[in-house]
Amino acid sequence: MTATPAPDAVLIARAADVLRRCGLVAMPTETVYGLAADAASEAAVRAIFAAKGRPADHPVIVHVLGADALDAWARDVPEAARQLAAAFWPGPLTLVLKRGERVLDVVTGGQDTVGLRCPSHPWARALLQAFDGALAAPSANSFGRLSPTTAHHVRSDLGEKPAGEVDLILDGGPCPVGIESTIVDLSGERPTLLRPGAITRAAIEAVLGVPVADARGAAPRAPGRLEKHYAPRTPLEVVAADRLGSRLAALFHLKVAVLAPQRLLSTLHAAPAVEVAAPEDPAAYARLLYANLHWLDHAGAERIVVAAPPDTSEWAAIHDRLQRAQATGSART
Ligand code: TXA
Ligand code: MG
Repeated sequence: MTATPAPDAVLIARAADVLRRCGLVAMPTETVYGLAADAASEAAVRAIFAAKGRPADHPVIVHVLGADALDAWARDVPEAARQLAAAFWPGPLTLVLKRGERVLDVVTGGQDTVGLRCPSHPWARALLQAFDGALAAPSANSFGRLSPTTAHHVRSDLGEKPAGEVDLILDGGPCPVGIESTIVDLSGERPTLLRPGAITRAAIEAVLGVPVADARGAAPRAPGRLEKHYAPRTPLEVVAADRLGSRLAALFHLKVAVLAPQRLLSTLHAAPAVEVAAPEDPAAYARLLYANLHWLDHAGAERIVVAAPPDTSEWAAIHDRLQRAQATGSART
C-alpha cells in the first residue's frame, strides 16, 4: 500500500480559505475523494450539485471532527449512534439520523434526516480543523461516474478551475480503504444498512447487539435507483469465476478487458486484450477497485468482464459496487 503523505500545512490553509469563500475543495478521505464545501452555506452546497451535475434531491453527507458534533447536527440522537461513533469514528461509517435545526434543506435533499460521518484520513481531519466547521461532501466524481480514489481521478473527471469545476484539488495519496463508507440508518424503528462498506454488518451488529436490517434485501432491487451509478463508460459484466473462460470464448469478437485473480487469468486458453490481476484479499481488492475500474475503462476495450469474487460476507460491499457498476440497463451479450 502507498503511504499517505503528511498533510501540507500551506495547502490545508489555502483550502480552508477556499471553503470560507464558499468554494469547492477535493478532499482525500480514507474511503474515496470527497467534493467538500461549507455545510452551513446554501450557496456552497449548491455549487457541489452544479459541479457534479447531480440532481438536487440527493442528500449529501456532512463530515465532522468527532462524536461531539452529533448533537449539533442531529436531534433525538439514539444511544445506538453514540455506541457506533465510539466504536468506529473516526472511520468509514456514516450515520443517518434525524436532522438537527441547523441542517440546510439543500444538504438533506429535503428529507428529515442527515448523514453524518467523521473521517479518519489525516488530510480530511486537518482540513476540518483548519476550516473549523462541518463539510458537506459527496464523492468527487461527476454524477453517475466512478468514484475517485486518487487526486488524478478527480483531475481527469471534474478537473480544477478555470477549465474544470473544483477550486482546489488536494493530493493526499491513494485512499487506503477505496470504497465509500458503510451507511447505517438510525432514524427509524430499527437500524438499517443503507450501503455496505468496509465496516461490515457483522461488526455493527456486534456493537449494537441487535440485528441490522438490509435496506436492499428488504426491497426488490430497483434498477432505476442503481442505473448508471458507479458505472464505467465501457459496458461491464460480472461472471461467475468458473464461467470466465467460456464467457470470454463467447466474446471472442470483442476487445475485452478482464479483472480476475492471477490464479484464474493463468488458466485462460487465450489471453484477453487487457487483463488486470485482482487481489485475493477483500481489503486489498476494495482499495484498488475503483483504480482498477478506471484503468479498465480507459483501456480502449469494448467490454469489461469481472470474475465474481467469493460469495462470503467480507466481500459484500465489493459485490454491491460491482453490481452497481454493471447496472446500466438492458442485458448485453
Ligand atoms: O465514503 C463516503 O461516504 C464518501 C466520502 C467522500 O465521505 N462520500 C460519499 O458520498 O460516498 P456520496 O454523496 O457519493 O454518497 C452518499 C450516499 C448517497 O447514496 C446518499 O443518498 C446517502 O449517502 N445519504 C446521504 N444523506 C442521507 C440521508 N439523510 N438519508 C439517506 N441517505 C443519505
Ligand atoms: Mg458518490
